[in-house]
Amino acid sequence: MSNENTSCLKGVGLTKIFGSGKKSVLAVDHVDFDFKNGEVISIVGESGSGKTTLSKMLLGLTSVTEGKIYFQGKERDISTRAKQKEYWKGIQAIFQDPFSSYNIFTKVDGVLLDCLKMRGKGNLPREEKYQLMKEACRFVNLEFDELTNKYPFELSGGQMQRLMIARVFLLKPQILLADEPTSMIDACSRSTILDMLMKLRDETNMTIIFITHDIGLAYYISDSVYIMEHGIFVEHGTSDDMLMHPKVPYTKRLISDVPKIYEAWDLDSITV
Ligand SMILES: Nc1ncnc2c1ncn2[C@@H]1O[C@H](COP(=O)(O)OP(=O)(O)OP(=O)(O)O)[C@@H](O)[C@H]1O
Ligand SMILES: [Mg+2]
Repeated sequence: MSNENTSCLKGVGLTKIFGSGKKSVLAVDHVDFDFKNGEVISIVGESGSGKTTLSKMLLGLTSVTEGKIYFQGKERDISTRAKQKEYWKGIQAIFQDPFSSYNIFTKVDGVLLDCLKMRGKGNLPREEKYQLMKEACRFVNLEFDELTNKYPFELSGGQMQRLMIARVFLLKPQILLADEPTSMIDACSRSTILDMLMKLRDETNMTIIFITHDIGLAYYISDSVYIMEHGIFVEHGTSDDMLMHPKVPYTKRLISDVPKIYEAWDLDSITV
């Protein structure tokens, strides 16, 4: 397990420009950050502020125009397919739309088996693999025996999301990047998902990077909050600092937009 306060993911002058010439879009503009092992970080900004573009750069799914990324203290190298695969053992993502995350021709047991293979457990005896998959399903309140022969599209939306977390449970990445399922999910399943992610974080010391529009939610779940506006981190700090002593007008506006429902949230009271 990694130590707290050591650098997990660091960016220096990270920049993404789409296109070139007059039509080019500066989506991420020289951002700097240093996320620590075991931290929960939220990146908050309005639509179009560059959050997804930044996460795709962190995941190595889109090229970096300028700047550097350091993973566990070393400059990231994903120049070959093998190095890329190695990097993805360390960083995994869950996306807004669970439907897009699965290969439709792979049944649930295949989805989970792939995770075991990625962790080098593909050659374990059949019974041991079965037990690990069952344990992962139990963690997210899914019944493995009922689902094993189903395709992901035969699951309900909530089951599919829980399957996504079961994958993370098996993969145990050092970093989990979650591009927040905002409008797609009702508040109840959202809190269930968050609850499970936090439990996983407590058990594995995983770093979670949460991407959201919602500064109230960010305050609720994170240690550090980064505010993104037009591709720039305009301010960052502990979640208490950001909410109690916001400095820039953009952050103040985001806070004033928050409905007051979070005060009434109690994750423990929600069952699956
Ligand atoms: N592939 C692309 N080609 C050109 N421009 C792009 C591309 N992807 C994103 N952009 C532009 O980059 C900017 C940032 O987009 P991005 O998707 O990162 O925003 P976001 O903060 O994730 O927004 P949302 O909250 O709506 O998901 C936007 O102006 C967008 O139009
Ligand atoms: Mg986005």
